[in-house]
Amino acid sequence: MRIKPAHFLNGRLRLPGDKSISHRAALIAALANGSTEISNFSTAADCASTLSCLRELGISIERNDDKVVFTDSQELVAPRRPLDCGNSGSTLRILAGVLAGHDFTAELVGDESLSSRPMRRIIEPLEMMGAKIESTDGKAPLKIHGSSQLKGITYKLPVASAQVKSAVLFAGLNATGRTTVIETSPSRDHTERLFNAFGIPVTTNADRSVTLYSRGRFVGLPITIPGDISSAAYFVAAAMLLPGSQLTIEGVGLNPTRAAFLSVLSSWGGDISTTDMQFERNEPHGTINVRGGLSGTVIDRTLSGAMIPSLIDELPLLAVVGSQIERGIQIRDAAELRLKESDRLATTAANLRAMGAEVEEFEDGIAVSGPIQLYGAAIDSHGDHRIAMAFSVAALIAKGETEIGGAECVAISFPEFFTLLESVAQR
Ligand code: S3P
Repeated sequence: MRIKPAHFLNGRLRLPGDKSISHRAALIAALANGSTEISNFSTAADCASTLSCLRELGISIERNDDKVVFTDSQELVAPRRPLDCGNSGSTLRILAGVLAGHDFTAELVGDESLSSRPMRRIIEPLEMMGAKIESTDGKAPLKIHGSSQLKGITYKLPVASAQVKSAVLFAGLNATGRTTVIETSPSRDHTERLFNAFGIPVTTNADRSVTLYSRGRFVGLPITIPGDISSAAYFVAAAMLLPGSQLTIEGVGLNPTRAAFLSVLSSWGGDISTTDMQFERNEPHGTINVRGGLSGTVIDRTLSGAMIPSLIDELPLLAVVGSQIERGIQIRDAAELRLKESDRLATTAANLRAMGAEVEEFEDGIAVSGPIQLYGAAIDSHGDHRIAMAFSVAALIAKGETEIGGAECVAISFPEFFTLLESVAQR
């Protein structure tokens, strides 16, 4: 994909449904009594992986346009083939939690990137609950020998991960007794919100631990998924960096465990507001308004500590924006980024340098000097959707044309990305 610089962005957008919420809604729908209609379901290839795994598990699912319908009450059955999770960590890790509580064996496989990512983080708690899991040195393929006799546990997460938290909570749906997950830093809480919306009793305690009280049946409900805030992030950042931009994005999820990048961009001088706040099944959503240009003095230019999990998917993009901030920015305590679809600290640093930025890479982060003029370059996405999209934003503010290698990977989370970007970019 070749991208030319833009003068500014102008327009009004609505985005497909949030990827994280869509995965969870599909899994809940598969386990619910009665039918569930999910509207504005994510168009991400990752969410299609979740649906195809559920179909292999005997669940019948109809998909028309943005609607996904799970008909009547259905039981998961032993799959005849390995379940292909593609590139999707959420599919593999959260589905492992579901399968842990079923009396059959299922194998979970993924692509090369997913097969290199750490899985001990889910194997440990799910085995404590009573499942048996075979792996290849702590990585996929995983063979899950599930059991309907799981026991609830109290588990302190060794890493801040919503996927691990969710795997344990989904396993808890088929366990006896209470299941409690203790987190040190808050990660996205879509599982907790959706469980409550479907009448499954989960509480978030004063110490931020989460307790699921009972197994038991619950009933399907219609649900509309809010627009994906992590997809919106690229448009918000690009509009902010191009003076003269006026961009409105409607119906976007504004869950506080996901929306932290909006406060960061505002604190770096962005003119960003949110309006029309509403709730759908416990999830807040609303309109994001952005006017281009930076103003004010940046006080805090370091992202670190407890805020990192709520910024996790936006950090490569924030590093790109950092190259335009007076005196630059720094990201620390983010070693988890090395374990994503690519080593995002390394791929962000290398691509920023290719565009002329000054970057220092640490074991747990990155420092980017700014402000600096970026130059069009050959970018290697390493097949990582968030790297391809973050550097498409860089391309809009660069001098000269940029070529994004392996750009088709944007379909992992956001197939419409380039078309929508062209629809608002003014040249
Ligand atoms: C996700 C959690 C995060 C995030 C990923 C989606 C989820 O991963 O990076 O894109 O849907 O729970 P971790 O749980 O590994 O931090």
